Amino acid sequence: MSAKILDGKKISQEIVENIMNEVTRLEKNHKIIPGLAVVIVGDDEASHVYVSMKEKACKKVGFYSEAHRLTKETTQDELLDLINQLNHNDKIHGILVQLPLPEGFDENLINSHILPSKDIDGFHAINTGKMLLGEDSFVPCTPKGIVELVKRTGEDITGKHAVIVGRSNIVGKPAAILLLKENATVTVCHSKTKDLQNHIKMADILVAAVGVPEFIKGEMIKEGAIVIDAGTRKVEGKLVGDVNYEEAERVASWITPVPGGVGPMTITMLLENTLKAAKMQCE
Ligand code: GUN
Repeated sequence: MSAKILDGKKISQEIVENIMNEVTRLEKNHKIIPGLAVVIVGDDEASHVYVSMKEKACKKVGFYSEAHRLTKETTQDELLDLINQLNHNDKIHGILVQLPLPEGFDENLINSHILPSKDIDGFHAINTGKMLLGEDSFVPCTPKGIVELVKRTGEDITGKHAVIVGRSNIVGKPAAILLLKENATVTVCHSKTKDLQNHIKMADILVAAVGVPEFIKGEMIKEGAIVIDAGTRKVEGKLVGDVNYEEAERVASWITPVPGGVGPMTITMLLENTLKAAKMQCE
């Protein structure tokens, strides 16, 4: 078997076109331009690259955007002050604080300072709670993109066994809740899971969010599985996922490439969430 490729770049472009039409409509009918503020603290190189990509994506669709690049000497109170200002800024509909924050910052506290109505990352406890209850909320971008990719296979998710490897607040946990909402049977594996390989082998839908390059080998994957790779690590200057692509591609029915799979979808979902926030704040 040779897997079909879930082309996150191409799917993103289709979604981006819809977003651009919506931006034109919002501006014409409501005189509103969706605005996103991205805040980054410290000098983590990969995070700076992601922030620049987010700014670029905003420009492309006609959003207003501001990036606040703060030094690692910034105090938590200074960051909270900035968030307060952005909460009250009418040009800003969405606020994103790039994670991870440097040591000493309380990420949950920071996220809970963002107004839930501007929390386009979906990390505020109110939005997390709503997501858990199945209510309309902002949903974290990477898992939202993952579910969209699975849907694009055209396969029925209902009753399928989804196995998620990784239990982070950003990817693994919300991906589990969202796939459960789609009627998958969900298993979440993590570093303490016993018989990890047995769990992985049962996956009709495998979501790899471990952060260890090529952790999942071809022989671990069930024949015909849908494989979604949320990993991105630089190894010798090259972006590598959590799945050994060449091996997995021979076993899976569908697979996301790295780069060009989950990554572009994350940014597009951020644009979608910001558009949603702008609409909510004007309608
Ligand atoms: N770091 C890695 N992914 C994300 C994300 O989706 N949002 C934020 N704020 N930080 C991240």
